[in-house]
Amino acid sequence: MKIIRSLVCFAILLGLFVMACRNSSTDDVKSLRPSGVTAKTDGARDAHSYSNPEQVRVPHVDLDLDVLFDRKVLKGASTLTIERIKPDADSLKLDTRDLKVIKAETSSDGNNFAPAQFTLGAADKILGAPLAIQLPPQVTKVRIEYETNPNASGVQWLEPAQTAGKKHPYVFTQSQAIHARSWIPLQDSPGVRVTYSATIRTPKALRAVMSAGEAPFNGPVKADQSAYSFNMPQPIPPYLMALAAGDISFKSLGNRTGVYTEPATLDKAAREFEDTEKMVVATEKLYGPYRWDRYDILVLPPSFPIGGMENPRLTFATPTILAGDKSLVSLIAHELAHSWSGNLVTNATWRDFWLNEGFTTYLERRVTEAIYGREREEMEAALGLQSLKKEMEDLPDADEILHVDITGRDPDEGFTLVPYEKGALFLRLLEETFGRERFDQFLKGYFERFAFQSITTDDFIAHLKKNLLDPNPELAAKIPLEEWIYKPGLPASAPKPQSDAFAKVEAQAKEWLEGKTPAAKLRSKQWSTQEWLHFLRFLPQQLAENQLKELDQAFGMTKIGNAEIAHQWLLISIRNNYKTAYPRLEEYLTSIGRQKLIKPLYEELVKTPAGKERALKIYAKARPGYHPIAQTAVDKIMKKA
Ligand code: BES
Ligand code: ZN
Repeated sequence: MKIIRSLVCFAILLGLFVMACRNSSTDDVKSLRPSGVTAKTDGARDAHSYSNPEQVRVPHVDLDLDVLFDRKVLKGASTLTIERIKPDADSLKLDTRDLKVIKAETSSDGNNFAPAQFTLGAADKILGAPLAIQLPPQVTKVRIEYETNPNASGVQWLEPAQTAGKKHPYVFTQSQAIHARSWIPLQDSPGVRVTYSATIRTPKALRAVMSAGEAPFNGPVKADQSAYSFNMPQPIPPYLMALAAGDISFKSLGNRTGVYTEPATLDKAAREFEDTEKMVVATEKLYGPYRWDRYDILVLPPSFPIGGMENPRLTFATPTILAGDKSLVSLIAHELAHSWSGNLVTNATWRDFWLNEGFTTYLERRVTEAIYGREREEMEAALGLQSLKKEMEDLPDADEILHVDITGRDPDEGFTLVPYEKGALFLRLLEETFGRERFDQFLKGYFERFAFQSITTDDFIAHLKKNLLDPNPELAAKIPLEEWIYKPGLPASAPKPQSDAFAKVEAQAKEWLEGKTPAAKLRSKQWSTQEWLHFLRFLPQQLAENQLKELDQAFGMTKIGNAEIAHQWLLISIRNNYKTAYPRLEEYLTSIGRQKLIKPLYEELVKTPAGKERALKIYAKARPGYHPIAQTAVDKIMKKA
């Protein structure tokens, strides 16, 4: 009796102790959770998902897909492991978009599946359609047989002509922000994390790659097929699920780094990215171990709609950064940095996007500084700030807020430079105020503390106060936190990048504009890509025909291969009706699909009736080669005009 009583007492005391520990701060509660269980704060419901993770969670997704190039369809099954958070939950709600659901089945032993009732709700333009599956009491797995739509928003199918090799078709996915649901039925919210495994079958000789480790495949394969298996053991948000298939070859860059691309591009890509291993080492030194085993890069065909995508273990990148001189590889530093900010510590909802991109832009600059020096980093920071200021001229106040409200909007449209550049400036202000050493320590602790969790802006602010602001009240007084996070505009406290090199470029530009030095005599021989970009941006909006000719003759502007410099030159050419550049403009817009490079050109074109006519002609040719997301974006520009 006595023993039992003391045991009970002990148990009660232990219980009280555990509860006391748990209540000491919300911060600590989360650290008790196993990795993979999200820290998503209550009340941070994701406005962009129909799913019900607070009732039923999906910790693992197993894919089995055939890549059918002839029909432009991914076809197969997705088997979801389920975990009941509410014991009486009787329905699993998933996100889908344009999926053809063939059947749903459930299983309580993982082997035997029985047909399940399901309803596919009405499709919303932005969110897609909710898929609700009935869950009998003991069910642990749900299997959905489905196929994708040829126009799936997250999948682009390329004809052989759109590839470098011109012989084989190519396909790739882009899941961020809410396009995973267009190729996998799942809980498509960044506040939910899954591990995944996959088997992908392709036409023979076409290789599949995924944002996962390769695993041995031992199943049966048809004679005209190849099959690949993958495994992603670290829990990731669904927007990081990614697949590509085509004539893809691989070259190693270092111990745990390498590059995949079409054979024709492989050597060039390997040379461009030769510093990748160094970048991984530099980032680890600053922010703690790289937690994803390998870091590889997939260079896509030029229609890839964005610059880069931080798919874990396998960054997807545009070939437009292959400048031949490593001058645009900060993009790799950026996508690599997401392995900490974004993939390890993830925004819980899309309104917290600045936690992903602001942090990553800050980290990108630190890595660039570590590898290429402060001068290069400051030039890039200055260009970033210029672009931010220019974009903010036309932004509504509400969109200049870091903690932006995007309810009811397509997250693709809510993305501006504000989360990137304003976010990065905020972190730079913290660095400058608290000192590099203390701030680096803080960030390292932040990544460690929230590793494999999805967090909100409030979670970050609580952590910031507790670990940096409150312990240093005098310095904290210099940080107008409310203004930075919740107010529009660029605070007066924003740090100012300092670039001596840019000051020199401006002096040269003035010499030329004032007629003191001809273009050919400018001291531009050693200019980097960044200096050229600054030079072109610094020129007045209106230039005379003979000035454009002079620049073109002196520097071969119209023929320039560097996609960023060419972009800046083409903008000037459109603005000033410089006809010599028109064929290049058409060639550019019909071969590149990266939105950041093409959208501003269309926007500039449609400003005049003649330009609009030209834009329509070019777009008619270019549109079929663009990604669905880019098509939607350019359609909008054309309609508005
Ligand atoms: N994660 C983003 C790309 C993205 C954002 C895709 C939102 C879909 C929705 C990626 O890390 C990124 O920011 N890419 C930039 C390059 C970077 C150097 C600023 C891009 O694609 O331009
Ligand atoms: Zn990014």
